Amino acid sequence: MFFLLSSFVDVLTNLSKVSFILLCILVVAWIVWYKKTRLRQASLPPGPTVLPLVGNLLTMVSPDLYKTLSDLRKQYGDVYRLYIGKELMIVLNGYDVIQEAMVKNGSIFSDRPWCPFRQKIMDNPVLMAASGKVWKDTRSFSQQSLKKICLDNSALKLQEILTEEVEYFLKEMDERDNTELNIVKFVDIYSLNVVFRLVFGHRFTHDDSDGLYMTEVYNELGMEFAKLQVMANCFDFLLKLPCDLLNLNKFLKLRNKLDTFMRYFAELPNHNYDSSTSTFCDEYLEELDRNENSDIDDVRGFSSLNKHRLPNTCSELIGAASDTTANAIGWLIVYLVREPDIQMKMFEEIKQVLGTEEQPVLEDKTRLPYTEAVILESLRISSSVPYAIPHAVSKTIDFQGYTIPEGSTILVNLKSVLHDDVVFKNPEEFIPDRFMNATHTETVVPKEFVPFSLGPRSCLGISIAMKEMFLVIVALVQRYELLPSSSLPESTGILSTVYKPRPFTVRIKKRT
Ligand code: HEM
Repeated sequence: MFFLLSSFVDVLTNLSKVSFILLCILVVAWIVWYKKTRLRQASLPPGPTVLPLVGNLLTMVSPDLYKTLSDLRKQYGDVYRLYIGKELMIVLNGYDVIQEAMVKNGSIFSDRPWCPFRQKIMDNPVLMAASGKVWKDTRSFSQQSLKKICLDNSALKLQEILTEEVEYFLKEMDERDNTELNIVKFVDIYSLNVVFRLVFGHRFTHDDSDGLYMTEVYNELGMEFAKLQVMANCFDFLLKLPCDLLNLNKFLKLRNKLDTFMRYFAELPNHNYDSSTSTFCDEYLEELDRNENSDIDDVRGFSSLNKHRLPNTCSELIGAASDTTANAIGWLIVYLVREPDIQMKMFEEIKQVLGTEEQPVLEDKTRLPYTEAVILESLRISSSVPYAIPHAVSKTIDFQGYTIPEGSTILVNLKSVLHDDVVFKNPEEFIPDRFMNATHTETVVPKEFVPFSLGPRSCLGISIAMKEMFLVIVALVQRYELLPSSSLPESTGILSTVYKPRPFTVRIKKRT
């Protein structure tokens, strides 16, 4: 000790005045930096101990991620932090906290996370994965166009597409009456066709290899992306090794193939299936023309739109719409098979209102409140997009007594709201009546019903999704009894970017 002290004094006496001042500045700067960092760490939300390299990954490797996140919530509160490798992730739980972030502070909580790895695997994101002006322009243009194409005065267009696609779907079912079938495969094509027709005016037959390929690619991309992102966060050096340990090349190959596919459709001279109505792609091209040829006053201000971004816009829109809706219909079938009494009650309502022959139309929604309640309950219990799509904060914000640094990833635990046992008693039970009023004549939807998330980033296709689900499920239950095949479909699923039912088969039996 004495030796150390005397050496230190020796060093100090040998230093020139300038070096001494420099040393003092360095020490002061270090103390300030250390205090600041400590302070920042101290004001971060609490969370479990962080391990080198992997952060809290081991905590999250669990067969039941929702239970793990719920246990952490009990320990640390509604807002806590996790590290996935180096990535700081703030988890938000419960309606009040999520509403405060997504709605009240929506302009700050509406970015998507970004890092060199994401840049590498997502070539030019524009909508679901983008932030800033490109996202804002593309989102508001897409919203306006979809409204114009299918929800405004030409609502007939969506009704027409859905009616036709339901007919195609039923035709496939008719050929498989009383057989055991993988119904999800047909639901996948139904859902892909609806959005593909809105975007490009094109449809696939149920055995079209391109259509099947597309549904598989969207499926696989979701799975691979979730795995890749976690591994790249923790072990980014693996990405630099010549051998492709993380399967990055497989992911890029899939993505490139999809890009080629989208470019092909986007560049087709005539996108219209029936050429009497406009498609999303037509609207986009028209907007580009308008931007080029009009006076400044005429331009609607979507300056980020350009021809190179068109294929990705279509691809992200189709990706966001097809897999999610097919998945939600898949869960609905799972629960109807598991709950025969509820299926029967739903059929009785349909029979009473429509009979067994009349094809359902969108206006029937209000006349079939129990059926509507079954759909709502299925969306609630399955929570098929349980953690939304990760958000990020665009600047440092004081939130709920903590500091969330700029760029932090935000995990929005929607399932913590949809399974809140104060709002939805016995949340693990399938009880459609919870969405009915006291006289059982109308549906009642509490504000905590958030399967499509909240705020400026919430789902862009809620209305389309609800109509798509309604028409196909009414038509299916009207014509068929849905029965289990060898075993009952499971109520627990598989988590990728969405929460999917485990593979299952059903038996359909024509009603007499
Ligand atoms: C039952 C089916 C669906 C469910 C459960 C669902 C749910 C969601 C959820 C939870 C998000 C994330 C919101 C967030 O990050 O906070 C989302 C985003 C999105 N959804 Fe849906 N969705 C469905 C169908 C659709 C359909 C049919 C379309 C289009 C026609 C669509 C288009 C989008 C888009 C474009 C986004 C990204 C929004 C953005 O980043 O600004 N979705 N959806």
